[in-house]
Amino acid sequence: MSSTYVPGLEGIIGAQTAISHVDGANGRLVYQGYVIADLAEEMSFEEVAFLLWKGHLPNRAELDGLTKELATNRELTPAAHVALDSLPKDTDPMDVLRSVVSVQGVEHRLAKPTAALAIHATASFPTILATFYRRQHGLEPVQPRPELGHAANYLWMMNGKESSPEIVRALDTYLVLLADHGMNASTFTARVIASTESDLISCLVGAIGALKGPAHGGAPSAVIEQLEEIGTAENAEPWMRDARKRGVRFMGFGHRVYRVYDPRAKILKAMCERMNPKFYALASRVEQTALTILHEEHPERPQSTNVEFYSAGVLQAIGLPKEYFTPTFASARVAGWSAHVLEQAAHNRIIRPQSEYIGPEPRKPVPLADRG
Ligand SMILES: CC(C)(COP(=O)(O)OP(=O)(O)OC[C@H]1O[C@@H](n2cnc3c(N)ncnc32)[C@H](O)[C@@H]1OP(=O)(O)O)[C@@H](O)C(=O)NCCC(=O)NCCS
Repeated sequence: MSSTYVPGLEGIIGAQTAISHVDGANGRLVYQGYVIADLAEEMSFEEVAFLLWKGHLPNRAELDGLTKELATNRELTPAAHVALDSLPKDTDPMDVLRSVVSVQGVEHRLAKPTAALAIHATASFPTILATFYRRQHGLEPVQPRPELGHAANYLWMMNGKESSPEIVRALDTYLVLLADHGMNASTFTARVIASTESDLISCLVGAIGALKGPAHGGAPSAVIEQLEEIGTAENAEPWMRDARKRGVRFMGFGHRVYRVYDPRAKILKAMCERMNPKFYALASRVEQTALTILHEEHPERPQSTNVEFYSAGVLQAIGLPKEYFTPTFASARVAGWSAHVLEQAAHNRIIRPQSEYIGPEPRKPVPLADRG
């Protein structure tokens, strides 16, 4: 069988999936047949997580069952608390998440991935983050509240007070929008690990590591930093032209699959305009300038705004610190990662592509004494 190396595996189909479809040419994202815009405004994260795991939207009894299971699995293990207490306060929250998810999961050993374990892991992400955040700020950790939904409870544990229904709804919408996205790098990572018949926690830990990079989920805090550097709308054009001369990429723009406006960004943009007008005023000018420059540079290769750009404004309006943007993304994507792990495990063949050797021709090793 002959095959050709494609950098970044662009266009290569890495799996068959029923979980989500990224239609890059038409700017459509579909979860199990439902268009994202139809889910984002009304659905809770719990409903969408159920959809990703089980393939259908839950009825009332199923939703109540899942909500209860998530709520009763929010506590961390004693080992996870020890790990949280041992990490320096300035540890990057993504490193905290990667480390403590791993510690929290040791009790499952090599357990076969199941929906119950997926729920367990999903429930633990906000507790890990909120417990660390409060410790970082010298505050007592706040106990999870079983009567609060997933989004409301996350904010409750972070802030020690209940958030308004509008803010909770905004976080729920964000979590729904980010819950899955085809064969993105972190999901692919999770599926590769799953294909070796490893355990769910190992898949999630690998996925968190992949998400962390600025080319993937690490972008939203970088968006804020870029906007802070730009400072004013008048400075957008000179700063951005100079940045391109220095080879700097605009954070929150470009995508491997979308060649048109990311449908999630469209929803987040409207939310950002409503919830964070100050951010929006600068961001919308930066967006126009970025799109103009990217078009001038490569008219043949359309680049558009991606999900991260307005995520930053929405998460800021929700009141989350910028270091917690990517871990909050992970708290949404854990639903998708685990759904893909379950799907991979159900139809598994080890993922083992080939490499194309470009090293030296066969040669004999020179003894140490004769090497120059
Ligand atoms: C997301 C990303 C990694 C996709 O990379 P990719 O699939 O290799 O992108 P493409 O093949 O479409 O295009 C690559 C080219 O477009 C340019 N490009 C892509 N995104 C760009 C951006 N945000 N700013 C400036 N130029 C960009 C690159 O410089 C590159 O051009 P070159 O080959 O002349 O160096 C990339 O767009 C990026 O780094 N964006 C910024 C980070 C970000 O927002 N990440 C979140 C993703 S959801």
